[in-house]
Amino acid sequence: MSEETHGAVDAFVVETIAADDEALSAALADATAAGLPEIAVTPPQGRLLTLLARSVGARTILEFGTLGGYSTIHLARALPDEGRLISLEAKPEFAEVARASIERAGLGDKVEIRVGPALESLPALDEEGVGPFDFTFIDADKVNTPHYFAWALENSRPGSLILADNVVRGGTLADAEDPDPATKAQRSFHETLAEEPRVFATTIQTVGAKGHDGFTLALVES
Ligand SMILES: C[S@@+](CC[C@H](N)C(=O)[O-])C[C@H]1O[C@@H](n2cnc3c(N)ncnc32)[C@H](O)[C@@H]1O
Repeated sequence: MSEETHGAVDAFVVETIAADDEALSAALADATAAGLPEIAVTPPQGRLLTLLARSVGARTILEFGTLGGYSTIHLARALPDEGRLISLEAKPEFAEVARASIERAGLGDKVEIRVGPALESLPALDEEGVGPFDFTFIDADKVNTPHYFAWALENSRPGSLILADNVVRGGTLADAEDPDPATKAQRSFHETLAEEPRVFATTIQTVGAKGHDGFTLALVES
């Protein structure tokens, strides 16, 4: 099947069951208008995030990589009234766009965006004891996926889910010789997962409007 077909199937799914509402469309439009890169999850993927977070009854969610807040809105919509989502974003100008979109979506009370490199934000989260998180979405700088996963695992509970996006990287995940540090990080992430008895995990390849990629989903068991 061609990339054109993959895009057409995504478009059909969006048309039938996964259309963005006004708040989500506006979040994407504002991000584009502000010059943010167009690398948010697709609408069907966004719905998957909502669906998974709802499935585990998430009351606390952690997100690595806010961008313009598109996935953040999908995730925060899964939360109950008293639920809380912390999203970590390196770029203040991205966080500003995201905050406005999240506020407009009526989710400002539930979402906190912390600005700065995520690895530097984590010690404060440790000190504040904000976890455990019921759902973690890892979607920031891909070279640090293994570090983010390690932190998320320590700050989860049995029954939590951790989803790491963009692990397949056009198929280079299967290539031991691929020199890209982001690919090497995903390979090392898988090697770590293989030795990690506390999680039950799998990786699913995806095709769609954004090409060939995939995600790893891990259930924390102990
Ligand atoms: C793929 S985008 C996130 C997309 C977003 N989750 C969505 O689907 O709407 C990755 C984001 O991670 C941010 N980022 C990159 N390096 C980071 C770091 N070290 N710490 C925190 N955020 C980082 C980028 O600025 C960018 O906004």
